[in-house]
Amino acid sequence: MNGLAPPGNMRFIAFAVIFSAGYLCSSAFTHPRGEWTKLILTQHWPQTFCKMEHCKTDFSYWTLHGLWPNTGVRCNTSWHFNASLIEDILPEMEKFWPDLLEPSSPKFWNYEWTKHGTCAAKSESLNSEHKYFGKALELYHKFDLNSVLLKNQIVPSEKHYTLEDVEEAITSAYGVKPKIQCVHPGMGGQVQILGQIEICVDRDFQLMGCEKSSEDAWSSDFPTVPVSGQSGLSVCDHSMPVYYPPVQA
Ligand SMILES: *[C@@H]1O[C@H](CO)[C@@H](O)[C@H](O)[C@H]1NC(C)=O
Ligand SMILES: *[C@@H]1O[C@H](CO)[C@@H](O)[C@H](O)[C@H]1NC(C)=O
Repeated sequence: MNGLAPPGNMRFIAFAVIFSAGYLCSSAFTHPRGEWTKLILTQHWPQTFCKMEHCKTDFSYWTLHGLWPNTGVRCNTSWHFNASLIEDILPEMEKFWPDLLEPSSPKFWNYEWTKHGTCAAKSESLNSEHKYFGKALELYHKFDLNSVLLKNQIVPSEKHYTLEDVEEAITSAYGVKPKIQCVHPGMGGQVQILGQIEICVDRDFQLMGCEKSSEDAWSSDFPTVPVSGQSGLSVCDHSMPVYYPPVQA
């Protein structure tokens, strides 16, 4: 019986060594294992959204779509959205993060919280509903995409822009590359429609480049079923003019 003890101990020691190596490894980064390293602040142009989703909206400014951590979705499905926890910021939420399909409904926030907020909440800086939605609003105002575009003469118009025009306006203001998404025309179409702009921040909420990676899949994160007949959003194409549709009367 005694003879079995050493191998068992050895196994334990080996396990302990591997375990602490893993631990040391993860603590070498500035964040605990499994937490996000990047947040994607996504804003959409309501007119384009409503062209895709067949809604009607008179929002004449970019509104929030979401604040998405780069790792995980639906991290805690038992952590339910509760609108009364963000009561003090609801007027702002309705104004800057509206549900374009059902104005004055909390559905969109509920969806974003469950899918992305519960993952963002793994970091202490965003570990409550109020911190999460409050931070999104704070970043929205801080980066002020609406003013950035306006200042660079990128305004909704029947004339078309090049993708470089739009890209340069944003890059010159932020010093980092955004991800710009368009609705692509169907067969024979000549113009892409500006739809969504993503800017990224690190764990300290400082701007960083949004280089293309796996989270591209989330671009189609609209809470409704995919649009029938339309191609949805994807990264804008450099070879095609960009249409930034004005508010429809
Ligand atoms: C999920 O959220 C619930 C409700 O806030 C909380 O009690 C629970 O500890 C969370 N679970 C995990 C794994 O974080
Ligand atoms: C929502 O939050 C409020 C305020 O903390 C609390 O009183 C209420 O019970 C919560 N509702 C649900 C359904 O958890």
